[in-house]
Amino acid sequence: MTENIHFPESDIFPINTFVNNKKNISIGGVDLEELANIYGTPLYVYDENTIVETIKDFQTSFQSEIPNSVISYSTKAFSNPYLLRLLDENGMNIDVVTGGELAIAKHVKFPPQRINFHGNNKSPEELKDAIDYGLGHITIDSFNEIENLKKITDDLNITQDVMIRVSPSIDPHTHLLTTTGVLDSKFGFSIETGDAEKAIESLMSIDSLNLLGLHFHLGSPIFELEPYAEAIEYVYKFSAEMKNKYGLDIREFSPGGGFAIGYETDKKPLPISDYAKIIGDAVKKACDLNGFNVPKIILEPGRALVGRSGVSIYRIGSIKSIPGVRNYISVDGGMGDNIRPALYGSEYSVFSVTKILEKEGLMKSTISGKFCESGDYLARDVEIPNPAIDDLLVLPASGAYNLAMASNYNMQVRPAVVMIKDGSHFLIRRRESYEDLLSTSLI
Ligand SMILES: Cc1ncc(COP(=O)(O)O)c(C=O)c1O
Repeated sequence: MTENIHFPESDIFPINTFVNNKKNISIGGVDLEELANIYGTPLYVYDENTIVETIKDFQTSFQSEIPNSVISYSTKAFSNPYLLRLLDENGMNIDVVTGGELAIAKHVKFPPQRINFHGNNKSPEELKDAIDYGLGHITIDSFNEIENLKKITDDLNITQDVMIRVSPSIDPHTHLLTTTGVLDSKFGFSIETGDAEKAIESLMSIDSLNLLGLHFHLGSPIFELEPYAEAIEYVYKFSAEMKNKYGLDIREFSPGGGFAIGYETDKKPLPISDYAKIIGDAVKKACDLNGFNVPKIILEPGRALVGRSGVSIYRIGSIKSIPGVRNYISVDGGMGDNIRPALYGSEYSVFSVTKILEKEGLMKSTISGKFCESGDYLARDVEIPNPAIDDLLVLPASGAYNLAMASNYNMQVRPAVVMIKDGSHFLIRRRESYEDLLSTSLI
């Protein structure tokens, strides 16, 4: 019988994470050392229970504020056929930003009415493909896209439901490279410059494009609530002007995603219900003030839906100490499977899978990867107990934008992905092979 010991940092891990009677970290009753031995490392591990509970949390939190709330997972955070089927079974919508993300959705026969197509540069071929599949929404992001969509829908003699992405010039105080709703951004029609008005005017005159409402996405991860309320107030004030000038109605409204998760034990995210309350209140107040009916609202979590559900496991291959300078612990993955630290300076917590309970012999270290870049690291200044070659390290909160951004840099193969469900485990993606690396070469 496994005795589960709670450890304080477990709240940034999947829901049922404990230390078991072997003194190893376990998730949903499955020992992480055992998984590493069976499937090899680096290894990504997801917990189905955490994903399903997070879906329910989003659905009940938002639907209790605005009953007509739809949760639409941003597949860019992590896309995989097993995951998309699970989302479908749990009544989720999804959004895609490329023909490739749409191809995965089509592969699992995800209901097209529940798919939204985002992206600032969709090609005419991608748009045609989306329309042929019968997508519920396309969120328009450029003037050229309006032209392309008009042509496709006119040629097919059909009407397509669309939203437009506006940029409200509001800073959500996250990293510059993950801020998207400010004036200086490639995303969306700026309200400030008058582009959003021009786009609405144009769309209201095109019969084959049915404008359902407006969308914005401020950035990610957003640890504050106020930017959402501020942006909703501003976008509704603008919408009221557009109603008077062009007859715009807001039947659907999307304040995007961006909800934060905990990466570090001392930087806690807010509960989803707090985001739901501020967004629900702001939408209802703005509708009241500006003479609109409360719309269907569409929330687009990516990170917050799968981030906490996933962990990454690595094995230590080398330890180097530079006295008075730094200790380097090198592991068998790195920027090829998790580029976030190198790209945005993102911070992760790191734990020893088998020595988590050891409180002596802590070595302050940089956890570096195996790729040929000095900037290839996973975490800095983390304390690892008695690190030794072959020890396993685990990074919690690895479920979003890690593997989704993975590359084959240095011709490294991408890791396998395991799902934990009801105390058992199975591969949902195999590790790549050297044959895979050669599979696209023609000569
Ligand atoms: C339009 C849009 N919606 C939703 C998301 C998902 O953001 P997050 O994963 O932070 O929830 C993004 C992320 O880039 C986005 O651009």
